[in-house]
Amino acid sequence: MWYYTKKLEHPVRVERSDPRMAKLILSQYGGPQGELAAATRYLTHRFTMPEPRARATLIDIGTEEFAHLEVLGELFEQLIDGVPLSELRRAGLDTYYVEHGRQPFYVNSDGVPFTEAYVNATGDPIANMHEDIAAEERARAVYEHLIAMTDDVHVKEALRFLWSREVVHADRFRESLQRVTDYLNERRVIRVGEYYERSNRLGRLTWRVDEIRQPRPTGGQELRSQQAPEAEPGRGGPPGEIGPAEGEAMPESQEPEAGTAL
Ligand SMILES: [Fe+2]
Repeated sequence: MWYYTKKLEHPVRVERSDPRMAKLILSQYGGPQGELAAATRYLTHRFTMPEPRARATLIDIGTEEFAHLEVLGELFEQLIDGVPLSELRRAGLDTYYVEHGRQPFYVNSDGVPFTEAYVNATGDPIANMHEDIAAEERARAVYEHLIAMTDDVHVKEALRFLWSREVVHADRFRESLQRVTDYLNERRVIRVGEYYERSNRLGRLTWRVDEIRQPRPTGGQELRSQQAPEAEPGRGGPPGEIGPAEGEAMPESQEPEAGTAL
């Protein structure tokens, strides 16, 4: 659920109309590194993010990107407000004007329509979070290019604000990546039917309930055959690299209450 605050996240004004700059700003409105791509990317990545704070960060930032889209739309509108058609033509906005008039639309600065093909979403929280960090860094770079393309102090100020938010977002996503990595690396034990499942980000191992209630072995060798976990294929290295050492039962202190997730 969202609540809308009826004001821009950053005030927008321009020194003078500039259709050429308006055209360039479309790159962040409907382009591959733009705010619409960012918003939709994070707001879908949140669904497969298992770590609660990282999921909340995705929702917060995804929502804020829509506010950035709003700022850019306002900038575009003011930069071409009242500009004669002859100037729009000289700025290369004649075909844009034919299709969309003076309203901002979801195309990049070359008029290429927005597509969700700009967005990667694998369902894997680690892969997605890397994508999110990279997206913020790409957006930051494009804002730097845009700032360099205008002398309008007010336009520069608004773009610098948006640039600064991308820097903050990249930092928040780096923290989230660490958080979700730690979360997945934690050895969690949950009850799954007659088995307990112990997982980390590298894969998954299962033990029968009666196996994990065996006392911790002291010597190891004599218990190896009866307590070796049944491994399931997982990500990363061979199953033998994860979970307890072969022949080692789960320590008593880690044994969960039935049905309790750790
Ligand atoms: Fe961002």
